[in-house]
Amino acid sequence: MNITYNGHSCFTLESNGKSVIIDPFLKDNPSAKIKPEDVKVDAVLVTHGHADHLGDAVEIAKQNDCQIIAPFELVNYCTERGAKGHPMHIGGAHDFPFGNVKLTIAFHGSTTDTGAVGNPCGLVVTMDNTSVYHAGDTGLFGDMAMIGPVDCALLPIGDNFTMGIDDAVKAVGLIKPKLTVPMHYGTWEIIEQDPYEFTEKLEKTGAKGRVMKAGDTIEI
Ligand code: NI
Ligand code: MN
Repeated sequence: MNITYNGHSCFTLESNGKSVIIDPFLKDNPSAKIKPEDVKVDAVLVTHGHADHLGDAVEIAKQNDCQIIAPFELVNYCTERGAKGHPMHIGGAHDFPFGNVKLTIAFHGSTTDTGAVGNPCGLVVTMDNTSVYHAGDTGLFGDMAMIGPVDCALLPIGDNFTMGIDDAVKAVGLIKPKLTVPMHYGTWEIIEQDPYEFTEKLEKTGAKGRVMKAGDTIEI
C-alpha cells in the first residue's frame, strides 16, 4: 500500500490500482500540495464534520462520482448536498471494492456549519491485507488496545484539540502498530508541535515512527 500525506489529517491510501482519500481538507489547508480538482479516488472517507476534516469531501466525491463513507449523520449532511454516500457507524465494518472499512470510537466533536452531525469516528482501512488506523481527532483512550493489529497508525499529536505528543506515545503502546505517522500538527500556531520529538520518544519505547511532509509518499 502507498500512503501519501496531504497535510493536516489528510491522507491518500492506494493499493492495487484503487485509492481512497481520508479527511480531504485541501482548499483551506495551508500545507496541502494538491487541490480538490487534482484528486482521483474510488471513495472519500471522513472521520467527522469539522471543517478541517470534512473539507472538500462533497466536491471531491461529486467530481469522482464516488461515495463518501462516514458516520450516518455526516453522510446525511453530504447527500443533502448532492454527494453519494455510504453510511456506517461505530463498530461496524464493510467490504467495498477497494477494501474494508471499520469505524472506531473517537472522543471528540462533530459539528458542521449547520450544527452537530452525530459522533466522530476513527477508521481502520484494510486494502490487500494491509491495514491503516486513522484515529481522526481524539483524545487518548484505553480501548485503543483493542483496535489492532494494524500495519500503520496515523495519530494526531497537535494537542489542544486532540492528543498531544506524550499521549500519542501512550496510544502507540496500546495499538502496537508496525509504524506510526503523526498528523494534525503545525497547520496553525495553536497545534504547533515538533513531530521529531514524537518519533524520538517513540524510538525510546522500541516503536517505529515516521514524519511525513505534505506531498510525501511511503510504501508499507
Ligand atoms: Ni475536529
Ligand atoms: Mn481537527
